Amino acid sequence: MTFATLQFVRKMTSSAARTAAIKHVTVIGGGLMGAGITQVAAATGHTVVLVDTSEDILKKSATGIEGSLTRIAKKKFADKPEAGQEFAIVENLKTKQELFSALDKVAPNHTIFASNTSSLPITDIASSTARLDRFGGLHFFNPVPMMKLVEVIKTSQTSQETFDTLVDFSRVLGKHPVLCKDTPGFIVNRLLVPYLMEALRLHERGHGSKEDIDVAMKLGAGYPMGPFELHDYVGLDTLKSIIDGWNKMEPENPLFAPSPLLNKLVAEGKLGKKTGEGFYKYK
Ligand SMILES: NC(=O)c1ccc[n+]([C@@H]2O[C@H](COP(=O)([O-])OP(=O)(O)OC[C@H]3O[C@@H](n4cnc5c(N)ncnc54)[C@H](O)[C@@H]3O)[C@@H](O)[C@H]2O)c1
Repeated sequence: MTFATLQFVRKMTSSAARTAAIKHVTVIGGGLMGAGITQVAAATGHTVVLVDTSEDILKKSATGIEGSLTRIAKKKFADKPEAGQEFAIVENLKTKQELFSALDKVAPNHTIFASNTSSLPITDIASSTARLDRFGGLHFFNPVPMMKLVEVIKTSQTSQETFDTLVDFSRVLGKHPVLCKDTPGFIVNRLLVPYLMEALRLHERGHGSKEDIDVAMKLGAGYPMGPFELHDYVGLDTLKSIIDGWNKMEPENPLFAPSPLLNKLVAEGKLGKKTGEGFYKYK
């Protein structure tokens, strides 16, 4: 997919008054993450332009955002129902480099670029542009409207001003920012993905059924979901692409070793909740 496909644009605005440094936001990719980021940015008073490759996808994003807002309104106004009436694209380095390189040529000088990548080095993505000081990472979590954390990634070239602006932007969105270095997986995925892979390996060795491992981690460690449930929720293809990428970077690291079972399920198209089957079946 190339920059030429960025032709369908939908604009969303909110009337809320704002004073923060970032006022206009462009989100590239209106899938799972992009739609969520658009929703929280618009709800906190930013002008948001959402870009995707077809009008149909944008319609789906808009319907998804509407559904999410309805659920939030229902919760928020449970007692009073009448009252309730520049960042995602696929996880591929070359695609992201092509996109940011093209945007770099047309975006105003003061525009800050941020990538929501889960696993690619921000430095590698930024290297396709001439604005290394105005490039950082903003890593949101799924579902974006519910999850409070944003990892703000500062590369060795990100300026302090850019970093402070991204931290401020995260706070304006109502999120809790944490500072991360540009290292694989930042904080959360660096700890979470090896744990998920270890759960798979434990199961592959025949040392526990997936059901028992899930129950054990929920009741024994107090986790809200077991590792196999979380695999299905995140998407097996997403986890495979993360682990394959890290394995390529550090082939000797046993924590980053691929899993035959994960590879098999992905090859069979069993990607988790989104396809109706992963480790478990969904109706
Ligand atoms: N899913 C997660 O939990 C999660 C969490 C944090 C970060 N991320 C990262 O966010 C990014 C998006 O993930 P997602 O789960 O939302 O994927 P997704 O497949 O739901 O959405 C990607 C969207 O990008 C669009 N797109 C692809 N190429 C494009 C182009 N050239 N121009 C415009 N739009 C284009 C697609 O049409 C699609 O709508 C990935 O880099 C992923 O690693 C995902």
